[in-house]
Amino acid sequence: MDLQELKNRAKQEIDKVVDLDEIEKTFKKYLGKKGEVALIFDSLKDLAIEEKKALGQEANVLKQEIEEFFEQRKKEIKNTASEIKQTTERIDITRPGTKMARGHLHPLTLVLKDALKIFQTMGFEIAQGPELETEWYNFDALNVPKDHPARDMQDTFWLRQNMSTNYKKQITNNNKSNKLLMRTHTSPVQVRYMETHQPPLRIIVPGRVFRNEATDAKHEAQFYQLEGLMVDKEVSACNFKAIIEEFLKRFFKANVEIRLRPGFFPFTEPSFEIDAKRADGKWMEIMGAGMTHPNVFKAAGLNVSVSAGHGWCGFAFGVGVDRLALLKYKINDIRLLYQNDMRFLEQF
Ligand code: DAH
Repeated sequence: MDLQELKNRAKQEIDKVVDLDEIEKTFKKYLGKKGEVALIFDSLKDLAIEEKKALGQEANVLKQEIEEFFEQRKKEIKNTASEIKQTTERIDITRPGTKMARGHLHPLTLVLKDALKIFQTMGFEIAQGPELETEWYNFDALNVPKDHPARDMQDTFWLRQNMSTNYKKQITNNNKSNKLLMRTHTSPVQVRYMETHQPPLRIIVPGRVFRNEATDAKHEAQFYQLEGLMVDKEVSACNFKAIIEEFLKRFFKANVEIRLRPGFFPFTEPSFEIDAKRADGKWMEIMGAGMTHPNVFKAAGLNVSVSAGHGWCGFAFGVGVDRLALLKYKINDIRLLYQNDMRFLEQF
């Protein structure tokens, strides 16, 4: 048996192996239980004792050497594999990263911000008032009759009247009805503002309002309004119309068709309702407005000697912010604005 020949052959074959599977097979061929080296050991039993000893030793050396060839080759294969991996799976630092989800504003916030900005450029100042109001500011001061249906259980969220006296003190007014309610509109801020500011004035009041109503596609129990008030010496319905048309043009960035209808509100005389045309051609009411009723000025403590030509006069309006959003974004259900469904909100 030529051990040297076997060693060379094994070496050559092992060096040609390129993957670990193949090495397994080759290992079996040479060093397995029935491999070529095992055959040499088997053949020893037929030899004379001296020969057996000599050949046995040589076979042991050979076995070790072949084992080393395998170890060596395995290492090499592993090294080239990781080299290949390194070159083919290199991290490309010039690739754009995965985009992080960014927060964004709610459609109602977008509409409010937009609308406020437009009115500010027209000289209106932002004013605010409390959501928890008194009957005086929400109804009485606005000339709403005592028996007006809007005051009853159907429309107004009345509060149990044992509120914190501290808070009550902050928002109430002596000798006036201090019964507490959630404001049903932003109009009470007109009176609050005029109590502490002298005309001429122009304010725009964003805020949340509450109605004790069943909800449907056009009505929510809670929604947003944008109240406007302009008081000066010579303000007419024409000024109002011009300002509202300018606002709508800038807000919708297009000519939205609107119509003024005669309406009725206790705090204005005359009163109008303004409708805007929706994408489907139907009219939708978007705001109430009118010339401020003298009783409102009186309630706020303003001099209203209009007859003498020295008094103040003004116009006011209340816009449904949600309805502006429905029109602007062509949404057909107001409830979508309050459900916080991300599939809806992600579109803005
Ligand atoms: N406050 C009314 C409402 O909530 C809207 C409104 C109408 C406001 C006429 C006004 C106005 O300022 O002049 O329905």
